[in-house]
Amino acid sequence: MSKQLEKVKELIQLREKARLGGGEKRITAQHQKGKYTARERISMLLDEGSFEEFDMFVEHRSNNFGMEKKKHLGDGVVTGYGTIDGRLIYIYAQDFTISGGSLGEMHAMKICKVMDQAMKMGAPFIGINDSGGARIQEGINSLAGYSEIFQRNILASGVIPQISGIFGPCAGGAVYSPALTDFIVMTQGTSYMFLTGPKVVKTVTGEDVTQEELGGASVHASKSGVAQFQVPSEEEGFTLIRKLISYIPQNNLEDPPYIPNDDPIDRLEDGLNEIIPNSPSKPYDMYQVIGGIVDKGEFLEVHADYAKNIIVGFARFNGQSVGIVANQPKFLAGVLDINASRKAARFVRFCDAFNIAIVSLVDVPGFLPGTGQEYGGVITHGAKLLYAYGEATVPKVTVTLRKSYGGAHIVMSSKQLRGDINYAWPSAEIAVMGAEGAVEVLYSKEIAAASDPDKLAKVIEEKKQEYNDLFANPYVAARYGYIDDVIEPRNTRFRIIRALQQLQTKKLQNPPKKHDNLPL
Ligand code: HXC
Repeated sequence: MSKQLEKVKELIQLREKARLGGGEKRITAQHQKGKYTARERISMLLDEGSFEEFDMFVEHRSNNFGMEKKKHLGDGVVTGYGTIDGRLIYIYAQDFTISGGSLGEMHAMKICKVMDQAMKMGAPFIGINDSGGARIQEGINSLAGYSEIFQRNILASGVIPQISGIFGPCAGGAVYSPALTDFIVMTQGTSYMFLTGPKVVKTVTGEDVTQEELGGASVHASKSGVAQFQVPSEEEGFTLIRKLISYIPQNNLEDPPYIPNDDPIDRLEDGLNEIIPNSPSKPYDMYQVIGGIVDKGEFLEVHADYAKNIIVGFARFNGQSVGIVANQPKFLAGVLDINASRKAARFVRFCDAFNIAIVSLVDVPGFLPGTGQEYGGVITHGAKLLYAYGEATVPKVTVTLRKSYGGAHIVMSSKQLRGDINYAWPSAEIAVMGAEGAVEVLYSKEIAAASDPDKLAKVIEEKKQEYNDLFANPYVAARYGYIDDVIEPRNTRFRIIRALQQLQTKKLQNPPKKHDNLPL
């Protein structure tokens, strides 16, 4: 055998060794926990055969606590690039079979290298997290490694899309890298995120709590809002990430992919002409409206289990990717509150950063009143959504279906917040508030002084009727040009598509500044 062939064989053996990570036993243990290995995850997520790995031979440089005897090729993370639907993607996946996927100096260096590459190429960056956190034996070098990653997450924000899959533990300060990215996907039952684990919680607060209760997928998808998606299995996580990528561009200078389909642009959705109930206090399901107007009824909902009074997610109109923001009358009457404002504001800002047009479907009775909301800072949080819509320069198409009252009317992509095309259905009611509240304010003295309750009820009814006749319609707003047209509900799809087509060449820039001061 020639010397060269010997060296080639040695390379092949080294590669095989690296691909085994922490060894067969640990791979089996990983599978027994219902989890895939880092390399299995990457090959399931990316297009078949597209993955090119970097830094397979990297090892740590620590000699503390016997670490010199615990060296594994790759140092607990697999990094590189590949494609999703033919589009370039940079990726890392932590390998739990090597030192529990813990992060030290060289592990972090590998992640930073692919992040830098993703920024240079203008391509999305995906991180699959499954790690015991900072590698204890490497001390401050582990913390420095995390800091290097966080800094890159921050600089990449709004430049390239960043997606985090949490498919195992993610604890301590490590959670801040995912938190700095655009989307977090968590697997149910096998992943968790928290700053301090159950033992520390018990010591500090006396609270007894399991890992799942403290930071499982359902907690973060429905209670804290930290995770935008929860999935029952890793397979579903990969499908979801691939789908998500299909709606978003490679970077902030490109448009999202255009995916043509055969759904007719002028498809009439007759059911929408009768979807609004006779009583203004009766709900209907906004999902029916969304499903009826978007291409093939396909909607990728973001934050589906959090603040259900507002719906946000991606869909397409005539193949064009859009972000949909819609009040949900079926949940808390579609009211805006702290969580709904935060959820929608973050989504609007993502769409704006990545050139994704925003379609808003409005049926909002106002902001939720009460001490709970005021003490929680609804003013600041509500202002986030107001700010997000107002600063957004992407095409903004708004359709008001029913209620659009007060501050919430302004917030929801109104004309004065630079809404490009604002349509209303004939059932729209655009006013400062609903008839009930208005009459109580305008006639409070008369109501307080009334001696005959029957007569009072009659007068109130008359005044409410007068108010509704005057304001509970879209024509007052249309008369002032605040609404561009009143449209037939069943024709909404066509009118939105036309509006989006017209807005293709929109150019609008905000004044130059170092950065804004969004009410955080
Ligand atoms: C070094 C670690 C490690 C760590 C796990 N391992 N976490 N090694 N540093 N942080 C090693 C274990 O020693 C073990 O090695 C192997 O990984 C597998 O771990 P097990 O404990 O056997 O696995 P399991 O029972 O599944 O438990 C997983 C775990 C647990 C829940 C993640 O390992 C754990 O609690 N780890 C510590 C978590 C933690 O507190 N991390 C620090 C967070 S603070 P051997 O060789 O024995 O198999 C933090 C700060 C970041 O991360 C700051 C950023 C700014």
